[in-house]
Amino acid sequence: MEIIESIEALRERLSGESSRALVPTMGNLHAGHLALVRKAGNLASCTVASIFVNRLQFGEGEDFDRYPRTFEEDCRKLVEAGTDILFAPTERELYPEPQQFTVDLPPVAKELCGAHRPGHFSGMATVVLKLFNIVNPHHAVFGKKDYQQLHLVKGMVSQFNLSVKIAEGDTIREEDGLAMSSRNRYLSPDERAQAPRLYFNLEKIASELRCGNRDFSVLEKLAGKDLEARGWMVDYVEIRDALSLAKPCANSSRLVVLGAARLGKTRLIDNLEAGIAQW
Ligand code: PAF
Repeated sequence: MEIIESIEALRERLSGESSRALVPTMGNLHAGHLALVRKAGNLASCTVASIFVNRLQFGEGEDFDRYPRTFEEDCRKLVEAGTDILFAPTERELYPEPQQFTVDLPPVAKELCGAHRPGHFSGMATVVLKLFNIVNPHHAVFGKKDYQQLHLVKGMVSQFNLSVKIAEGDTIREEDGLAMSSRNRYLSPDERAQAPRLYFNLEKIASELRCGNRDFSVLEKLAGKDLEARGWMVDYVEIRDALSLAKPCANSSRLVVLGAARLGKTRLIDNLEAGIAQW
């Protein structure tokens, strides 16, 4: 695996590659990321991963400074997963001057996670657009774990007529159902034991939806109460239309249940698609 830090060197190295697939990451890689890298390997002859902890998508008081940086370990894992090139720019390389041009997103970016992390998705989309312009990938792979992020990236690609094709990777879970996330390592042993409760609640809602229950707000409230009773601080548990992420209507045929809640200082997110609802 070649490690390249500069945009110019990366562009030069990639110029002869006939097909490129990109997996953008912020590092601290786990099995979920590595599944995305393997997927990328099946899509193109050259697999590029990037590691960049993007300050622009962290709000004030969020975990930018303490975000786990595990570069050596990440490199070892990326090699095992078949990465050809790792793009690991410095902040100065990617943001040589304050980034004044940013991506303006539709209102759905201010809902769900966006309601609790102002500016997060605009910062995310801005760095993703930069990475697309630098790598010029034919394919890029994003995980469904960040469902709203994936939705916004797909919308940006479509509405800006970007030539990249977005591939989706399923959420990889621990044995007890907890979605793999770089932030899981912040959890204390007690919190870790409690952490699958978010998935448990989403699964409960999804199974109700599959059985035809349409009391969306009752289901959402029950899940929120269950988590709060166990000491979680709930940002949201919501049922949405899986394609538009809008609030579902009676004839929404594909639903997704999304949740974000804090255990101590750690904010966990998760989601589950509820399949075709049988109205
Ligand atoms: O999902 C992430 O890790 C980040 O939001 C991404 C897509 C790498 C952009 O910084």
